[in-house]
Amino acid sequence: MHFFNKSNPIGIFDSGIGGLTVVKRVTSFLPNESIIYFGDTARVPYGSKSNSTVIEYSLQDAEFLMKRNVKMIVVACNTASSTALPALREKFDLPVVGMIEPGAKMALQETKNNRIGVIGTYATINNKAYSNELKKLSRKVKVFEKACPLFVPLAEEGWTHHKAAKLIAEEYLADLKKADIDTLILGCTHYPLLADVIQKVLSAKVKLIDSGTAASLVVEDYLNGRGIRNDSNLIGQHEFYVSDVPTKFREVAERFLGGKVAHLKKIDLEELIGK
Ligand code: DGL
Repeated sequence: MHFFNKSNPIGIFDSGIGGLTVVKRVTSFLPNESIIYFGDTARVPYGSKSNSTVIEYSLQDAEFLMKRNVKMIVVACNTASSTALPALREKFDLPVVGMIEPGAKMALQETKNNRIGVIGTYATINNKAYSNELKKLSRKVKVFEKACPLFVPLAEEGWTHHKAAKLIAEEYLADLKKADIDTLILGCTHYPLLADVIQKVLSAKVKLIDSGTAASLVVEDYLNGRGIRNDSNLIGQHEFYVSDVPTKFREVAERFLGGKVAHLKKIDLEELIGK
């Protein structure tokens, strides 16, 4: 295991923009940590790709972060977490935190009736990532899953309170409404942005679980537990890298994070794939 300087950054990657919801949570819990974020905007979406492609891309994304001396890697993308975590942990000798286990654990802490819904991309749902994890942790739990692919473009477009979002949510969530769930895991980076409409369509009684929040708490525990939390009093530096032109990224990132994104750079795909 490598030993890292406490001031080294945390590396976070996602298939694109959505992982910024995780950056927001990490910075709210850990404001003094520096962050290097990589969004694979040239190859997004991951949610409709095969497992082998997502694993290959995820290894390249993590390698990019490793070259920048990160002290841990957060796989902000639920799709990548659902497929690539074992490969990442095998290849890289540093802590790798994904979204699935933290989200599943938080949902089990919240549920009273042991009926949990999960929404995510096709890949996350088809991989049964959350349901396998939930069933591993509890024998009593019943899991109801639904892929909601159109939520991603709605969030990117900023249509989080648009009537189209309500209509689409009603269609996607109809079966979950009937299933009497008391807890719903938002198993995709973008879905916390649609939390209001999802909550309205289900019922105020259904507890929404943001895996990004759950994972950020795990990151904090990890840093404390290993004694590698940045103990500086200064606010951390945040650097953002993307694999396609950053115009749209900047616009959405500033909306997601609610502030200016100062350091944003496009990298060449060749650099990423090591050619
Ligand atoms: N970041 C992905 C996830 O959380 C959503 C976007 C995509 O399909 O790449 O699953």
